[in-house]
Amino acid sequence: MREVVSFVRRGERMNPSQQRAWDALSGFYVLDVPPGRRKTAIAADAQLDFAAAFGREAPLLVEVGSGDGATLEALAAAHPEANLLGFEVFLPTVASTLSRLDRAGLKNVRMLVADAQQAIPILLGPESVAEVWTFFPDPWHKARHHKRRLVNPGFARTVARVLVPGGRWRLATDWEDYAIWIREVLDAEPQFAAEFAQGAPRFAQRPVTRFEQRAIDAGRTIVDMSYVKVGG
Ligand SMILES: C[S@@+](CC[C@H](N)C(=O)[O-])C[C@H]1O[C@@H](n2cnc3c(N)ncnc32)[C@H](O)[C@@H]1O
Repeated sequence: MREVVSFVRRGERMNPSQQRAWDALSGFYVLDVPPGRRKTAIAADAQLDFAAAFGREAPLLVEVGSGDGATLEALAAAHPEANLLGFEVFLPTVASTLSRLDRAGLKNVRMLVADAQQAIPILLGPESVAEVWTFFPDPWHKARHHKRRLVNPGFARTVARVLVPGGRWRLATDWEDYAIWIREVLDAEPQFAAEFAQGAPRFAQRPVTRFEQRAIDAGRTIVDMSYVKVGG
């Protein structure tokens, strides 16, 4: 049986410039973990030493579903004091991300080509992450696909577990029904408190990505949300 995953399964073919970027840059930016049985999964006993992987100890900021890396680039530049880790399953966009990071001279980012839902509980320890970002997760509109939504009670517990007390999960979506769904899920998770009662102001450091621009052009409203791990 196929496992329920939060992403669309797509081809892996890279264009020539993506392939060049991958060949030249993946050794530096992409973390190597033993694979699991299904594609994009990692081995159940995989381990990573993040201080060694980044070459330093620093607060860890994690983006889930980093797409072409526009947000990672902006946030890595805004946070030179932090280590940034991007999870993205779609290889060609990871390759584009590598070019982008290299052009910008950013050395404080690493990528994991892995399903974050499966890999985070394995690789990230409790209270090891300062912030998690999830911007424009796939909306999975149809009711029979709601089980594929990345934001769900199980993943909310996973994110809460890895965040430090007082750490934030920042999210944004351009779909009203998904915004309502996210609020219901995170309001029901006792380890999270909404930072703003009326919806968060736009996270100022978040750039307008291709996805967001498309949503704005289509007349949709962007909803930002910010949840704080309680207990700190
Ligand atoms: C709609 S795109 C948004 C990309 C980016 N955040 C932006 O704003 O441009 C969602 C991305 O999340 C990735 N994704 C979805 N589920 C994921 C998962 N479980 N682990 C890693 N990446 C995931 C998809 O491959 C896709 O690239």
